[in-house]
Amino acid sequence: MRRRLESHLDLDALVGVPADEGSFDTIVHCVREAPDYFHRAHGATPAERLASDRLANAVADERVHLYVLTGLSGEAAGLLEVAVDTPAPGEATIVLLALAQRLRSKGLGTRVARALLSHLRQAGLGHVRLGVLQGETAAMEFWSSLGFWHGETADGVMLFELALS
Ligand SMILES: CC(C)(COP(=O)(O)OP(=O)(O)OC[C@H]1O[C@@H](n2cnc3c(N)ncnc32)[C@H](O)[C@@H]1OP(=O)(O)O)[C@@H](O)C(=O)NCCC(=O)NCCS
Repeated sequence: MRRRLESHLDLDALVGVPADEGSFDTIVHCVREAPDYFHRAHGATPAERLASDRLANAVADERVHLYVLTGLSGEAAGLLEVAVDTPAPGEATIVLLALAQRLRSKGLGTRVARALLSHLRQAGLGHVRLGVLQGETAAMEFWSSLGFWHGETADGVMLFELALS
C-alpha cells in the first residue's frame, strides 16, 4: 500500500527523488539554499550535521521517506520528509517541507503540497499532521490555506491536522 511512496513522486511542479546515502551532498546543498528556515529551526547546526541526521533517520526507519525536490531540469529545489503510519497506523506526519529561498512565494509549495496530499490519500492514509514552530506565520498561513486546522500547542510547536478521507 505504501509502495508508491518509495519511488519518484510526481509532485506537479517538482519531482520528489527518494534520498539515499548518495544524496548527502545534494541534501547539504538544499539546507544551504534554505538558510533562514534551518537557522530558525536548528540554530547554528552545520548543514552537514542536519543532512546526516535526516539521512540516518530515513535509512533507520522504513516509515520515513526523505525526498530531494527536483525541478524538471534536474536542479535541487528543496527537501521533503514524510513519515507514514506515524504517529499511528493510517496517519502521516509531514516532518519537513522546505524550498530554496529563491523559489518561494510563486505557488510552487502549494502545488507540491496538494500533489503530496493526493499521494498520501491514494496510499491509504486518512489523516495528516505536522508541527509548526510558534511564530512561523508564513508556514501557518501556508498550511491553513491548504485546509489544515490548528490544534493544540505543546513546547512551542503548533499542531496542524487535516483529514484526507
Ligand atoms: C512554506 C513553503 C513550503 C511554502 O511554499 P511557497 O512556494 O513559498 O508557498 P506558495 O507560494 O505556494 O504560497 C501559498 C500560501 O502560503 C502563504 N505564504 C507563503 N509564503 C508566505 C509568506 N512569506 N508570508 C505569508 N504567507 C505566506 C500564503 O497564504 C500563500 O498564499 P498567497 O500566495 O495567496 O498569499 C516555503 O515558503 C518554504 O519552504 N518555507 C521555509 C520552510 C518552512 O517554513 N516550511 C514549513 C514548515 S515544515
